[in-house]
Amino acid sequence: MKAKTQFEPATFTQPHAFIGGQWVSAAGGHTIDVINPATGDIFGSVPALGFDETNQAIEAAKGALPHWGKLAASERAAVLKKWHALILEHQEQLAEILTGEQGKPHSEALGEISYGAKFVEWFAEEGKRAYGDIIPAPRAGQKILVQKQPVGVCALIIPWNFPSALFHRKAAAALAAGCTVVVKPSELTPFSALALARLAQQAGLPDGVLNVVTGMPSEIGRALMASPTVRKLSFTGSTRVGKLLMEQAAKTVKRVSLELGGNAPMIVFDDADVEVAVRACMASKFRNGGQTCVSANRVYVQTAVCEPFTKALKVAVDELRVGPGTDRSATIGPLINDAAVAKVARHVRDACSKGATVITGGKAHRLGGRFYEPTILANAQASMELAHEETFGPVVPIFRFDTEAEAIEAANDTNYGLASYIFTNDINRALRVSDALDTGIVGVNEGAISNEVAPFGGFKESGIGKEGSYQGIEEYLDTKYIMISLKD
Ligand code: SIN
Repeated sequence: MKAKTQFEPATFTQPHAFIGGQWVSAAGGHTIDVINPATGDIFGSVPALGFDETNQAIEAAKGALPHWGKLAASERAAVLKKWHALILEHQEQLAEILTGEQGKPHSEALGEISYGAKFVEWFAEEGKRAYGDIIPAPRAGQKILVQKQPVGVCALIIPWNFPSALFHRKAAAALAAGCTVVVKPSELTPFSALALARLAQQAGLPDGVLNVVTGMPSEIGRALMASPTVRKLSFTGSTRVGKLLMEQAAKTVKRVSLELGGNAPMIVFDDADVEVAVRACMASKFRNGGQTCVSANRVYVQTAVCEPFTKALKVAVDELRVGPGTDRSATIGPLINDAAVAKVARHVRDACSKGATVITGGKAHRLGGRFYEPTILANAQASMELAHEETFGPVVPIFRFDTEAEAIEAANDTNYGLASYIFTNDINRALRVSDALDTGIVGVNEGAISNEVAPFGGFKESGIGKEGSYQGIEEYLDTKYIMISLKD
């Protein structure tokens, strides 16, 4: 008989947050429900922690900082690697939790767990490479040492679209750097973070190094942002909230990393391999049902290939299977909540009222609830809402264009600058257009651009700072310079 582990998914639908190594309830026992987006049923409930409990978590992180920050990087790496192994060992259960609270298909949930785990492995090693410098001093008899040290207590605010992978992308970097953290998962998807915290505890992470506070954002955010102990904020979410947090961070001059909204253009030139472009469009647009900051939001197709591209894309979109993530044959799940469905419907309605043609989809799915049909709209125009606002849903609007200059101008005509995609077989054009696009990430003949080794982050109102890569750990390190005057 299989040994029962301490890690059954049901354990994580118990109402406990994680502070100072203890599994805690809210004062007064208040909880908030987490809804399964596929069914509308309650998936579980978590403590509705507030201002005071968040301050307790900050104090726990502060108390744990001196020990954790002073360990050798290899000692921190040993704990992170154990955590990594436990995550992989429990990936099926973690995927089950993720699908239950977020809705994504099981195969995508499994993909997210392994994607997230890679950040833990990567940063465990990167922590060992937080190199300093010795700088030639201006005067004889002096030495200048430059060293890196952990920023301190960090607040990590995790979004609902990738509650597991983005937890890791932030937490693993911070912990490897020697920081301690207070994690605030989205109130819509808190269980992945709690499950990962339990595995971190089993991996031997000392009490207080990682704390998870659950509840509504306003009180928790107020405590995190007001605290002078919190020296760094890393937030993934909307540009609107990112701007507010940036303002609040100014009061105590916290460092900020912000990964905010996107409005990614995908440009398909007439010399592109249409099959490759369609495959990449499917991967980018329909990952997580389009609820991804780097999803292609506007697809610009050069006139000569517009018809074959649209036809081939329709075939691929019509093959998608909409259904609850627990149905192993489903390839696209529900949207996160009713507001998300309403926004998608509003964008489609607005586009159609301004001349877009529905190629496929275009309405709520017959399954009802939060399911929306995968949709292609032709004849999209710059005047439509979906040209300027992230749809965050399964809608591909196709804009026709004639010249390279026109495509670049349209692609850059947005306040956002996270990702963009180019499809062409002309290397000169690929490099020329990559240079011209105002985005932090460019995919050339590639729709999957997220991984642990590359610097993920946007330009303009899409954010500040990088996650992943050797640059990701820098976000959690301060540089100190030491001037030494030597005696003769
Ligand atoms: C995001 O949507 O915020 C991130 C997605 C990714 O890591 O690719």
